[in-house]
Amino acid sequence: MSGEVSFLKPSAVNPATSPALTDDLQANVHAKTVEVLSLLKAASNELSPITFANSFGAEDMVLSDIILKNQLPIEIFSLDTGRLPIETYDLIAKTEQHYQAKLNVFFPQAKSVEFYVKKHGINAFYESIELRKSCCHIRKVEPLQRALSGKKAWITGMRAAQATTRTSLPVREYDAGNKLEKFNPLSDWSESEVWAYIRLKDVPYNALHDQFYPSIGCAPCTRAITLGEDVRAGRWWWEDPINKECGLHVK
Ligand code: ADX
Ligand code: SF4
Repeated sequence: MSGEVSFLKPSAVNPATSPALTDDLQANVHAKTVEVLSLLKAASNELSPITFANSFGAEDMVLSDIILKNQLPIEIFSLDTGRLPIETYDLIAKTEQHYQAKLNVFFPQAKSVEFYVKKHGINAFYESIELRKSCCHIRKVEPLQRALSGKKAWITGMRAAQATTRTSLPVREYDAGNKLEKFNPLSDWSESEVWAYIRLKDVPYNALHDQFYPSIGCAPCTRAITLGEDVRAGRWWWEDPINKECGLHVK
């Protein structure tokens, strides 16, 4: 019986549903924030230039807040696939205004998108895993390679608890595919801790989180989740969880 109840427990997908800000939770978040700040300072001293991949999801807003408020020497870039939800574009503009910062946005190569769409169709990613992955390659992976060019390290907002594909995510690893160091400073953060940080520091966040979108990617490949579903259940929901990576994070 208790198993059923915990299965239906809402996940902490937005400030309204996240757990109360108890003293313990606040202390935990404070201690983890100090650790992340120290990691980011050390990483940017050791490996320059270093860049942060910002998808404007909740985790990335925590890292943006730490980087921008502390004026760390870390560039921030975002990959605009051309298919992002309107709420993400609104958040990009809001973030630039909130922090008085200019962020770097990388776009896919127009010729590659035109060729793919002409050959396969505008929504071909629903047809097969291969076509979905090749769309992600054109719209995300190739622009990522340009964003990382000349950099010694990059930073992501991934957490180990997000997906079966991320359970053993280290805080630091060597990204052999892109040939540079990679940091995942929030690897051991829980979703509740992410939302506690956002509430405590009044960080801007994507309006879709209030509509039960805990994980947000491109509009046609993201849906809201329901009670008891996994946080990434709304990403490429028609695929097996084992395939749910877009190619940005190759082991
Ligand atoms: S993914 O499957 O799309 O890669 P997720 O949305 O969980 O997964 O993002 C994981 C991390 O990848 C983010 O914290 C961010 O660092 C990076 N990332 C994902 N999408 C983008 C994007 N559009 N622009 C920049 N970074 C991104
Ligand atoms: Fe294309 Fe969907 Fe991948 Fe976005 S998430 S790049 S629309 S397949």
